[in-house]
Amino acid sequence: MSIDTPGITPHGGVLVDRVMRGTVRDAVRERAAHMPRVVLGPMAVSDLELLAVGAFSPLTGFMTRADYERVVREMRLSNGLPWTVPVTLPISREVAETVHEGQEVALVEGDRVLAIMQVTEVYPYDKQLEAREVYRTTEEAHPGVARLYRQGDLLLGGEVWLVDWPAKQEFPEFRHTPAQTRRMFARRGWRRIVGFQTRNPIHRAHEYIQKTALEIVDGLFLHPLVGETKADDIPADVRMASYQELLRDYYPADRVILGVFPAAMRYAGPREAVFHALCRKNYGCTHFIVGRDHAGVGKYYGTYDAHTIFENFKPEELGITPLFFDHTFYCRKCGGIVSSKTCPHDPSDHVVLSGTQVRQMLERGEPLPPEFTRPEVSRVLIEGLQAKRANQDEEE
Ligand code: ADX
Repeated sequence: MSIDTPGITPHGGVLVDRVMRGTVRDAVRERAAHMPRVVLGPMAVSDLELLAVGAFSPLTGFMTRADYERVVREMRLSNGLPWTVPVTLPISREVAETVHEGQEVALVEGDRVLAIMQVTEVYPYDKQLEAREVYRTTEEAHPGVARLYRQGDLLLGGEVWLVDWPAKQEFPEFRHTPAQTRRMFARRGWRRIVGFQTRNPIHRAHEYIQKTALEIVDGLFLHPLVGETKADDIPADVRMASYQELLRDYYPADRVILGVFPAAMRYAGPREAVFHALCRKNYGCTHFIVGRDHAGVGKYYGTYDAHTIFENFKPEELGITPLFFDHTFYCRKCGGIVSSKTCPHDPSDHVVLSGTQVRQMLERGEPLPPEFTRPEVSRVLIEGLQAKRANQDEEE
């Protein structure tokens, strides 16, 4: 099934819709109770929801071998369309013994059936190769590689149909599907929309690049990722509170829409930047911001690798325009936010904090420098993290 939708053409031509509804759904759900079960991990649960709502259009299920292998090696689906990260369903050898190609299985979260899958293929894959090609490292210290090494040794490929939403439907008022965001943009009369991916609080550098981009388009779609992130990233609920505070005080309400992107973070740097852009095209964005070390972690990627990777594709193949930004920061001599492209001064004049420094200061209850983060945002982050800590202490 596909949805007829306003706005930019989805990746591959049509917006995929794999959400079952009504009596068909009820019947399939009943049938699913008797199918062999495959238990999904957190990333597969996220991927399933994104597949079902069309955020991963043109994908209609977890990748079969031809797509997977070409994505890993060439950053393209088997039909040649750009696609940069695997969307796979890993299973153990024991589970593989209970499923056969051609069969229908129930995809479950705990004991809840979320979807059915028509199994096209059960196939082996090379984890080292995926690590090297997709993550550009085979080191287990990389969180995406660690997850890859931990997961099952075989992959299950085939189309999916969602019969129930994952249990954790956080931020329901912001959990817009691609079909919904496209309608929201159209209702506002926006024709050029810039998407912004983030897994962090919005610091002043983020605000600067968003507002600079907004100068040349009609609207900003602020689309924080709220699926699984590594343990030391700031939790999504605390971030969401900080985004709302910032939007209220510093952004024009009629030019910004806040939504959540329920994907898991892969930390695949450059490859994930292209993937993030394609997903946002499906949500209806015409432009996408790619700044410094997009989706990076540690020192695995060069500062601008996530820019240069776009050179592998023709603009019309991607169908969404990336807006590249250099490293952005506050400069004391310039007296404002600037970037390494626009500032002539020495780095000692720049206010730059690492992610670790930011976290440590917030955990100590210290506000971040106002040149780095708006005081309102610092306050919400400190309060949110303190409340989390108090809850954890109580539970222990
Ligand atoms: S990400 O993993 O989601 O990319 P983050 O939330 O830090 O991490 O970044 C969101 C977007 O802002 C990315 O496009 C990133 O490249 C960009 N960005 C973050 N910090 C800066 C900065 N200081 N200068 C320029 N771009 C930045």
